[in-house]
Amino acid sequence: MRLTVNGNIHDVDAAPDTALLHVLRNDLELNGPKYGCGLGECGACTVLIDGAAARACVIPIEGCAGRDIVTLEGLGSRENPDPVQDAFIKEQAAQCGYCLNGMIMSIRALLNRNPRPTEAEVLESLRYHLCRCGAHIEIMRAAMRAAGLVAEARD
Ligand code: FES
Repeated sequence: MRLTVNGNIHDVDAAPDTALLHVLRNDLELNGPKYGCGLGECGACTVLIDGAAARACVIPIEGCAGRDIVTLEGLGSRENPDPVQDAFIKEQAAQCGYCLNGMIMSIRALLNRNPRPTEAEVLESLRYHLCRCGAHIEIMRAAMRAAGLVAEARD
């Protein structure tokens, strides 16, 4: 199976029904996406597929050929982070950090389709992400900061 991940082409030797998350983590050593529930419910494994948020734990790789897959690692680098990554760092929006991959990727997907979201729209985009820590206020601040940065860059 040939997959395009973070702009690189990978020939992957795995059964077509293998979950994308397992290939990303085990074969490609991309550990940004996390394994949480494995059922599509917690959001920890979220990646972008053709710019939209997708739960990699329940997506078989056979549906991914020819599509543009981006993981947390592909958003930006330490030297040049994506505005969403930058906003999370500046707001120190983390406690344990396990859910953050999913939150960041879902906010990135939201900003791809709506660079000026309202707070209600940000909340809706995070509705199905589970987080049991106490960083929710900082996460919302980071999301709104990122929205401001993205909107500014487009003006
Ligand atoms: Fe994929 Fe929970 S690990 S949604």
